[in-house]
This record gives sequence, structure tokens and C-alpha cells, in this order.
Amino acid sequence: MAKRNAFQCSACGAPHMKWTGCCNECGEWNTVHELVEASLGPSQVANGAGRGRPLELVGLAHVAEPPERRFLGIAELDRVLGGGIVSASAVLIGGDPGIGKSTLLLQAAANFAANGGSAVYISGEEATTQVQMRAERIGLSSSPVMLVSETGIRDIVATLEATRPDIAIVDSVQTMWVDSVDSAPGSVSQLRAVVYQFVRFAKRSGSAVFLIGHVTKDGQIAGPRVVEHLVDTVLYFEGERGHQYRMLRAVKNRFGPADEIGVFEMTGKGLQGVENPSAMFLSDRGRPSPGSAVFAGIEGTRPLLVEFQALVAQSAFASPRRNVVGWDGNRLAMVLAVLDARCGIGFGGQDLYLNIAGGIRITEPAADLAVAAAIISASAQRPLSSDTVVFGEISLTGALRPVAKPELRLKEAKKLGFSRALAPVAAKKVVLDGIEATWLSDLPEFVHSLYQADEN
Ligand code: TYD
Ligand code: MG
Repeated sequence: MAKRNAFQCSACGAPHMKWTGCCNECGEWNTVHELVEASLGPSQVANGAGRGRPLELVGLAHVAEPPERRFLGIAELDRVLGGGIVSASAVLIGGDPGIGKSTLLLQAAANFAANGGSAVYISGEEATTQVQMRAERIGLSSSPVMLVSETGIRDIVATLEATRPDIAIVDSVQTMWVDSVDSAPGSVSQLRAVVYQFVRFAKRSGSAVFLIGHVTKDGQIAGPRVVEHLVDTVLYFEGERGHQYRMLRAVKNRFGPADEIGVFEMTGKGLQGVENPSAMFLSDRGRPSPGSAVFAGIEGTRPLLVEFQALVAQSAFASPRRNVVGWDGNRLAMVLAVLDARCGIGFGGQDLYLNIAGGIRITEPAADLAVAAAIISASAQRPLSSDTVVFGEISLTGALRPVAKPELRLKEAKKLGFSRALAPVAAKKVVLDGIEATWLSDLPEFVHSLYQADEN
């Protein structure tokens, strides 16, 4: 018969072969109990065997105190978190190696500690001297952050229990290991056990824990995805290599809006928050050229103007290329199909390239119309008028669907000096001085009006 674990810790769920007074997984006492599997069968439950304790139920109207929040002092990060960090919460920050996760959290810890909070930075990747050198380089070495270089969870949790800092940073979860789990650091079971231990510590102590996780492509090391469900907040740090701009995006947040983004610039002095991202993304736009369209978007709660660039060229291949950077390739295929079917504009035999300037990734369907505008302009070899912004979602029927917050989009466009907009008719009630909007109901109408403003 196969061996099985007949005991389980009621605090952390860790299985045990035999009874023990102290769970070697979570360190709790008197929580290891024998599993009586027979009593869990449905017939026994129905018969009343192994009966549970009735739980206290509460109503929806119970008014809880809002969770306690503290600002880290890095405005973009505080905003993405939903207005500072909530105590007793666990935040996972994922991103490609080298994107700037360690730098950002070292800056956050340093700022927080310099303003009177207590912060502990645990590095499993670098020696303390390396972290100190980095702090020195970005001018933060005088901040009272406490550092340690260690990978064993047992000692780390004991240290945190003893110090109970306001915030703790774990860099990175893939280097940490729990000694009772019999697999290499970075494996799925280790990662789950490690994150579970830190989440439990956060809930028990009231500290906020930031967990850094590398996004891995080859599957050798488990990525942050496998532990997203264990933590309160998940942020991803993204950006193109070779661009200095970095986006921090909230994909899950129990204490604030998801989809909020923070924009940073990587400089010689670490990461700097970008207060006006629209101005930044449009700053290196040259003279009006074919294939360029400005999209008035919304990321999270904030309007964001970005430039879509397209290039259409004769293809040398049997199946033409469709290269996309910063936008969904399937969505591009859909826009092309609708242009072909509803407007008779086809791209067979032509390579098509689409890029969003600045290295940002846009996921909003409202950008469909900007994509269509850029492609049509590239194909016609004719620049769009430089004072125009575009937004709207294209449906398969060719109709333009309404999008969220049209007013905010137009206000941002006006602020950045644009004076014309092409938008779905559903937003017609929005009237803004200084912006002359053309309200459109379908794609053929949009194609028709694209250059009309120039001709008048
Ligand atoms: P890092 O924070 O170590 O990335 P991660 O922890 O996500 O792996 O950032 C590494 C990159 O950032 C590295 O290529 C150097 C660059 N960098 C700067 O450009 N300026 C700076 O001030 C710092 C500290 C790093
Ligand atoms: Mg790092």
C-alpha cells in the first residue's frame, strides 16, 4: 500500500507522517492532528458523524474600519497600490529580470524609512554590500533601512517576528526556500510554501510584505503567476528593454482599483516617477508623417495619450508579416478583417508593422480606431492632421462602440494642445470648448472623414 500522511497541521495545512507537538512548517504548537478520512465521506457527514462547530454568521451591513494605509513616498507606486500600502497585506511584484524591481523597492524602503517608518530589506540574490553599493549610487545610503542577505525562511521569519517592521521586502521569492519542502528553491512547491509563509507572517504581525518575483520564460523556475491567488495585491513591472520607461501595472488589488498604472523613467539615479506620461509619450513625435495616429486612452483612472505607428510594405513572402509591438496581435487581425469586409480596404500581399511609441503596452479595445487610423494613413502614404486624437472600439459589424470616460480623454487631449477628435457617436453629449469633435457611427464613416478635416 502506498504510504500516506496521516496527520495534518490545522494552521497551515502541511502534511505530517507522524504526530508532532510543533509543526515544522509554520512553527505553531498543538496544531498537528490525525486525519480521520472516513469521517469526511458524505454519508457520514449526513449522519452527523464528525460534526463541525456552527460558525457565527454576520450581515452585510456590518461597517468595518477602512484598512490602515501608509504612504511609501513614491507617488506613482502609492497610486498603483490604491493610495499607499495597507498594513498586514502581501504585495507581489513581478517582472522580467533586470527591469528594475529591486531598484524600485529599495527606493520605496529607503523613502519610507527616511520618513519614520521601519523597513527591512531581505535579499536572497545579492550580498548586503551589493545592496549598499546600489543604495550609495542612487543616493539613499543614509536612510535607516535594515538589510540582511539570507534565503532560509525559518531564520527570516524569526528575524521578522523579532523586529516586526512596518514593511518588509523579500527579493526574490524564487531564491527563498522552506526546509520542510523537499524540492529546489524556485520550484512550484517551494514558491507556494515560501509565499504562504510570508502571507501568514503579514496577517499575523500587521507588517506589509512586498514579494519580488521574476517572470521566467523557460519554466525551469516557477513564475509569480502560480502564487497570485495567495497575495492581496499583484503588480507587474513592464517595459521594453532599450527604452528607459517602465510601467507598473496593478492586475489584482484587494484594497484598490486594478488596472491602475504608474509610469517611471530609469535614470542614472534610479527610477523617477513620471507625472505627466502623455507629454512624455508624445514628446519625441517629429513632423506629421504617414502611419502615425494619436490615441486618447485611459489607463486605470488616468488619461494617457500615446502614438500608434504603422508601416505597410510590399511583402516578399507568401504569407505576409504581421508584426505588433505593444498591442494585441489578434485584435489587429480583427481590425484588418473589419476594414476589409466593411470598407473594402485589404492588405493581402502586404507586410504590416504596428508599434506603440515609448515601449508601453496598451490593452484597451478603445484603441481599435487609432490602429485603423494609423494603418490607413500608412497605406495611403498620407499623414493625418497633427492636431487630431482618435478613440473608439470597432465591432465586427463595422459599428463604433462607445468607450468609457470620453470626457476625460478629450480634456487630456485639449491639455496637450490637440484641437480635433474622431470618436464614437455615443459620446456626442460630451461638449468641450476648444475641441472640435467628429462623432462617428461606423467604420466606413470614419474612413471617409479621416482626411476630410484637411480638405475643408
Ligand atoms: P534591478 O532593479 O536590479 O532589476 P531587477 O531587480 O528587476 O532584476 O535593475 C537592474 C537594471 O537597472 C540594470 O540593468 C541597471 C539599471 N539601473 C539603472 O539604470 N540606474 C540605476 O540607478 C540603477 C540602480 C539600476
Ligand atoms: Mg533584483
